[in-house]
Amino acid sequence: MLNIRPFSFSDIDSILQIESQSFPKSPYDGPTFLNLHYLYPETFLVYINTNRGRKEEEILGYIIFTQEGHIISIAVHPQVRRKGIGTQLLQRAMKTPHLKKVWAEVRRSNQGAQAFYSKMGFQITGLVPNYYGNEDALIIERRLQ
Ligand SMILES: CC(C)(COP(=O)(O)OP(=O)(O)OC[C@H]1O[C@@H](n2cnc3c(N)ncnc32)[C@H](O)[C@@H]1OP(=O)(O)O)[C@@H](O)C(=O)NCCC(=O)NCCS
Repeated sequence: MLNIRPFSFSDIDSILQIESQSFPKSPYDGPTFLNLHYLYPETFLVYINTNRGRKEEEILGYIIFTQEGHIISIAVHPQVRRKGIGTQLLQRAMKTPHLKKVWAEVRRSNQGAQAFYSKMGFQITGLVPNYYGNEDALIIERRLQ
């Protein structure tokens, strides 16, 4: 899709802003994002606003996933949620060739994300106690083949 492209270093400030608003309890910091970019240069993707007339691109969301289908993180700027951006980012990950499944960890309290993944056809397949320190993670997964 035209408005999804790989992360580049100049995106970092926008990504950090989205991150602090999306994961206030445990945001990734700059070095973590740069390390994730080093590890997954082709599958750390950003969603950009491509409005004509804008001089600079506006970063509206991001997704990081592995070639095996592990969704490491996904977030959309709070001001533009419920407009299908998360769906487009996740669909891009699910189009990775030869994937058998996609999966992610989600905080037990994160009902918005659980509703999002459920809409995308994911099911809860497990639970990791205290994955987030004092909160459990649900493992959610969607089989693709
Ligand atoms: C989860 C997240 C990425 C979804 O992004 P988004 O762009 O708003 O998602 P979409 O617009 O594609 O939503 C698709 C569908 O998912 C469901 N959905 C999404 N967010 C929802 C919410 N907060 N509550 C209930 N259902 C929701 C809806 O069915 C929605 O369709 P609809 O708007 O037509 O009803 C976004 O809410 C976010 O960044 N959250 C904070 C970070 C986070 O929790 N990430 C996931 C943890 S791994």
